[in-house]
Amino acid sequence: MKSRVAAIIPAAGFGRRMGHSTPKQFLLLNGIPILVYTLKVFESSPLIDEICLVVPPGMEDRCRIKLLEPYHLKKVGRVISGGETRQASVHQGLKKTSPDADRVVVHDGVRPFLSGELLRRVLETATGEVGAIAAMPLKETPKQVREDGTVLSTPDRTQLYLAQTPQVFPRKVLMEAYEKAYADGIASTDDSALVERLGFPVRIVEGAWDNIKITTAEDLHLAGKILELRREERGRG
Ligand code: C5P
Repeated sequence: MKSRVAAIIPAAGFGRRMGHSTPKQFLLLNGIPILVYTLKVFESSPLIDEICLVVPPGMEDRCRIKLLEPYHLKKVGRVISGGETRQASVHQGLKKTSPDADRVVVHDGVRPFLSGELLRRVLETATGEVGAIAAMPLKETPKQVREDGTVLSTPDRTQLYLAQTPQVFPRKVLMEAYEKAYADGIASTDDSALVERLGFPVRIVEGAWDNIKITTAEDLHLAGKILELRREERGRG
């Protein structure tokens, strides 16, 4: 039987770090909302069966009318209202995925440059009870620092990665991880962290330098440059 994959796109943040009144996922890049770039990757992937989009409370209809309809995003079966934190938003989305989806992929709405190829590699690595996450090895030497600013230690960077999304888990495992996190009062900005604490294995898949999370005004500037680079590459190819 073909396995069914549900995508959850948390896009319910207010983007306070950006200093804009419009949440960053709705800002335009070359005339197109950031969130549309993200959703298109999932829309066009043959590996994704359904998409649940999580948006700020009260913006569900606006998103349907302004984003889904004009950009023909037909796989987005549900547009639901998010919570106070990313964790709460993903949990809301998870509860709305089809019970017959055996795997779930979570990807931040503000990571518009995910490639279909990275999404496929993460999905291929998550098999059976094993989860998989995109992550980047460290290029610089990390330091663990005390509150007063002095260095406590220099961890071995060969063992350290920076987590990105997409992150893929069996639906049942992620559900259990979320329920247990709430029961235990655990808060995290990373889905994998909630799964890891239950002892389920999670594998790293090397992510991409341009799979950036647009958080600050500098990130938005960088995003514009990445788009330019992609256009140039297409022009050359
Ligand atoms: O908070 P951060 O910038 O890391 O957000 C990562 C993703 O989580 C963004 O796409 C954001 O819209 C989403 N988010 C959410 N609900 C919240 C906070 C953030 O869906 N309450």
